Amino acid sequence: MYNEIDLDKIEINAEPPEEEPARQHYFIAKCRKYVKEESERLGRPLYACTVTFGCQMNARDSEKLSGILEAVGYELTETEEADFVIYNTCTVRDNANQRVYGRLGHINSLKKKNPHMRAALCGCMMQEPSVIEKIRKSYRFVDLIFGTHNIFKFAELLANMFEAQGMVVDIWEDTDRIVEELPVERKYPFKSGINIMFGCNNFCSYCIVPYVRGRERSREMEDILKEIRALADDGVVEIMLLGQNVNSYGKNLKEPVSFARLIQEVEKIPGIRRIRFMTSHPKDLSDELIQVMKHSTKICRHLHLPLQSGSTRILKAMNRRYTKEQYLALADKIRKEIPDISITTDIIVGFPGETKEDVDETIDVIKKVGYDNAFTFIYSKRTGTPAAAMENQVEEDAVKEGFDRVLKVVQDTARERVSALWGRTMDALVEEINEQDPEFVTGRLSNNTIVHFKGDQSLIGTIVPVYLKECHGFYYIGEREDKWKN
Ligand code: 5AD
Ligand code: SF4
Repeated sequence: MYNEIDLDKIEINAEPPEEEPARQHYFIAKCRKYVKEESERLGRPLYACTVTFGCQMNARDSEKLSGILEAVGYELTETEEADFVIYNTCTVRDNANQRVYGRLGHINSLKKKNPHMRAALCGCMMQEPSVIEKIRKSYRFVDLIFGTHNIFKFAELLANMFEAQGMVVDIWEDTDRIVEELPVERKYPFKSGINIMFGCNNFCSYCIVPYVRGRERSREMEDILKEIRALADDGVVEIMLLGQNVNSYGKNLKEPVSFARLIQEVEKIPGIRRIRFMTSHPKDLSDELIQVMKHSTKICRHLHLPLQSGSTRILKAMNRRYTKEQYLALADKIRKEIPDISITTDIIVGFPGETKEDVDETIDVIKKVGYDNAFTFIYSKRTGTPAAAMENQVEEDAVKEGFDRVLKVVQDTARERVSALWGRTMDALVEEINEQDPEFVTGRLSNNTIVHFKGDQSLIGTIVPVYLKECHGFYYIGEREDKWKN
């Protein structure tokens, strides 16, 4: 494991080793020297800030970035007024890109105030050639750029940055590599995401992910289990297995393993009390998985099952490979087998060619499935995807109208589902002190519903029974069960 490596014993004046992860350990040791020297010159510690855009996969990648930054000697901070700032970007919708450009303007002014400051960009957006071109032209103050496939090389790239005079750019088009045993700095001590696979092979016609994250690659089951055992030993009680399409986990391994089998093995690990996973593609969700979930005491009662559209015609154009009826039958089967499960979803409104009637079909599915929550997105044209080249793009006004109609039904349905829990006592994992009221803590139920109740710091990371006293739309105000009884 990484924490068994003695960085002081690495000979940094020798040539770097060829093999991984030894090569990155060498560069961590080398960067430690650069950071220490600069810190001595300035007579103060150096600070680094990681800013994350996008999904859970990016959040996990950011923990890896922060792990390296800490290992090389930076003190981590939440503010961008730091000596090193890295933006881990997302490009799934255009507004994510626009936010990054906006924030870069701010970085430029901070760099003028602090001449020692360095700025880096990485993540999905960097896999787009047009973005790199724009940054080279209009944001020349950026010191380091890399993409999604070579993130494991972050220590090496940092060393290159310290040694270089201008912008360091390293983008790979694809990779089949998975490098293990690098440092990670977890955001929460009691819960963690774990990558079980990388990339996506589905090529939904609107989606840029397969182009920027590459082909599907699963990690070996033993490596995943080893990582989770170490996390459990370190006090982690809840894990989230991460992949763009977890239901196809293990299909391409030398010795194929199913996702259901992996999750059963994870369940055996002592100390792990809750298991979550994200994201499931409806076309690959197996009966085996439903049965494993049904009989499990650790797998959370929550399934995120992206619908995208309720219209079979649009689903076909999206290349989703299921029909409205197949999706409804699947949701029905899940609800029958696991009645207390909450189902959440993603919906896109405004896909090319979508009519008012197609939106009606989506609304029909929302009502029939009764989602506990749904993320509703306006279709965003992503250059290079098949949908971007479709000629029947929908007018903005029609999209807006459809979006508002969908949102209203989503909210009504979610409110109804969440309020059905009223009066019950359920276990909550306490995650943090409430942001608005420090006398309260915020916890999460197995089904992902949020509950706020009176408590203090000592409860964080524990699982406690909470009486769901008042429903406030999408969340609850509760009371700890033992107190309630007194
Ligand atoms: N436009 C809008 N939403 C998109 N998503 C993916 N690509 C696009 C796009 N081009 C949504 C899908 C996916 C979620 C992560 O982002 O709903 O499930
Ligand atoms: Fe994108 Fe479809 Fe892959 Fe999800 S399954 S990442 S929506 S291509």
